[in-house]
Amino acid sequence: MTGAGTDALLEVEGLAVEFATAQGWARVVDDVSFTIGHGETLGLLGESGCGKSVTSLAVMGLLPPRSSRIAAGSIRLAGRELRGLSESQLSDVRGNLVSMIFQEPMTSLDPAFRVGEQISSVLRRHRGTSRSGARERAVELLDLVGIPDAAQRVDDYPHTFSGGMRQRVMIAIALACEPDLLIADEPTTALDVTVQKQILELLADLQDRLGMGVLFVTHDMGVISQISDRVVVMYAGQVVEQASTEEVFWHPQHPYTEGLLACLPAEHGRERLRGIPGLVPGPLDLPGGCRFHPRCHHARAGLCDVTPPGLDEVHSGHRARCLLARDLELRGIS
Ligand SMILES: Nc1ncnc2c1ncn2[C@@H]1O[C@H](COP(=O)(O)OP(=O)(O)O)[C@@H](O)[C@H]1O
Ligand code: SF4
Ligand SMILES: [Mg+2]
Repeated sequence: MTGAGTDALLEVEGLAVEFATAQGWARVVDDVSFTIGHGETLGLLGESGCGKSVTSLAVMGLLPPRSSRIAAGSIRLAGRELRGLSESQLSDVRGNLVSMIFQEPMTSLDPAFRVGEQISSVLRRHRGTSRSGARERAVELLDLVGIPDAAQRVDDYPHTFSGGMRQRVMIAIALACEPDLLIADEPTTALDVTVQKQILELLADLQDRLGMGVLFVTHDMGVISQISDRVVVMYAGQVVEQASTEEVFWHPQHPYTEGLLACLPAEHGRERLRGIPGLVPGPLDLPGGCRFHPRCHHARAGLCDVTPPGLDEVHSGHRARCLLARDLELRGIS
């Protein structure tokens, strides 16, 4: 299913997020737009520091209130504008429409409470479920996410679970309120490859069964290829490429995406090449012209360092923020 059209589950439009710094407001997310359809998985991709988590937190209404602000744009979830909602309205949205899982389950789970209690408390708070009903549902949810012996494990504390099992518990908590949208921010990054694969399979299976939309955030192209229907690539706070997963992998239209693909290991169809030289610039030292130009080996002096590219449609459903997108023959996987 595509996210286009007015009945998209999530519509983020022209989102700009700023953080307070000693030098004034720094714009860390700039003019970001994307949609997610019901039952669709959108992969949000980019190196560390590109603005993926800040974008996700904005959608969740979880940006730090005093040190950050949404400077522009709108975030509509199931047709409802989230920007400008009060904290209690946002808490209601989080309890009913959207949930988030993070990279480090141990920092999100409370070590002092049994996992069953942590699931039950969500149900009791947001759904008004009775104590016994919530416990029963907690067992069902642990079972749903593949925790063996769920009826016994429901009374165990987080530290008795392995990293992969803790992430399953976090997913169970996130699913407790039957969200329409699940945001997964690097949920497998801390896990070893085998467990990572199991969690990705679990998420794909749950999405199939529950029909959720998923915003899947990762820096890992390999993970994106396994889970996403469409991909949004972010660089230095902006969207630089947007297309179906196949398009992004086979026919990338932005040199940054080409660079990320070149870092994939050989099993993905090519030998390992150099990474992308240099670092993502911070919001206060963005280069002029194209933000990627100091790292881009296709850059043209006098053009790329001068003119900021727009996010243009290169062909139907495929957008790229590159002045030379139509001229370059970029390498996808082959
Ligand atoms: N609480 C914060 N205060 C100030 N700057 C922040 C804060 N959180 C993130 N940033 C900045 O916003 C930018 C984007 O960060 P983030 O969204 O976490 O990147 P990603 O998730 O893509 O790694 C970075 O430059 C980061 O330093
Ligand atoms: S606009 Fe120029 S510097 Fe930027 S990505 Fe395209 S070729 Fe590279
Ligand atoms: Mg992040």
